Amino acid sequence: MPQTYILGNWKMHKTLEEVKSFFRELPALSGDAYFGIAPQAIHLTVCLNNELSIGVQNISAFESGAHTGEISPVSAKDLGANFCLIGHSERRSIYKEDDSAINAKLLKAMELNLLPILCVGETLEERESGKAFDTIKAQLEKGLAGAEIEDANDIVIAYEPVWAIGTGKTATPEIAEDIHAQIRSYLIERLPEVGSEISLLYGGSVKPENVQELLAQENINGALVGGASLKADSFVKLCEATR
Ligand code: PGA
Repeated sequence: MPQTYILGNWKMHKTLEEVKSFFRELPALSGDAYFGIAPQAIHLTVCLNNELSIGVQNISAFESGAHTGEISPVSAKDLGANFCLIGHSERRSIYKEDDSAINAKLLKAMELNLLPILCVGETLEERESGKAFDTIKAQLEKGLAGAEIEDANDIVIAYEPVWAIGTGKTATPEIAEDIHAQIRSYLIERLPEVGSEISLLYGGSVKPENVQELLAQENINGALVGGASLKADSFVKLCEATR
């Protein structure tokens, strides 16, 4: 069975005090799923020393040097980050990250053992023109180019339809499972040894009210959650749904 994940993506939200109060309010979490939060990188150290894994929302493909404003993956790891989001749709659309930049980041994260969460997903236009999986397949193909995935826990894939992110419009469990099943087949074909065990997360308006039916789908192994991960009580409910 692929590992189950609940990952929160805090984007550019929360003041320092709000970060601290989230962790004060967070009760002990039980279960054998992987629970993590990706806060703003600037808050990373404040989030350590608790039972959640901590990640970054983006990394540079370079380890160090003249890259003003970038997040060094080496420094993120050094501070205690365990995972990083790669190719989130906001990085792709607002910051114009293309598949080759995303691929370079993914390879660097793997080299450094910083678990990469590769995000893929189609726009509404692509879905309406029947090209949802073509888009995703191309993102996987280019994003994973050259990656030597020997263990199912080397990488996580997150399917996040762009039209469902932050819009309140969740993909129905059927729509999400349809894409997840296609991603699963693609991975099994490409990586026969480990493809069936790689965790596939769904993201896009996941909340306590819909997480259970999403997680009940055969190929949905967890969730990447924005808005509903910001409050401790809501995040805890998402985690409890994995039991
Ligand atoms: P959302 O964001 O849960 O607020 O839709 C998900 C994401 O962007 O990862």
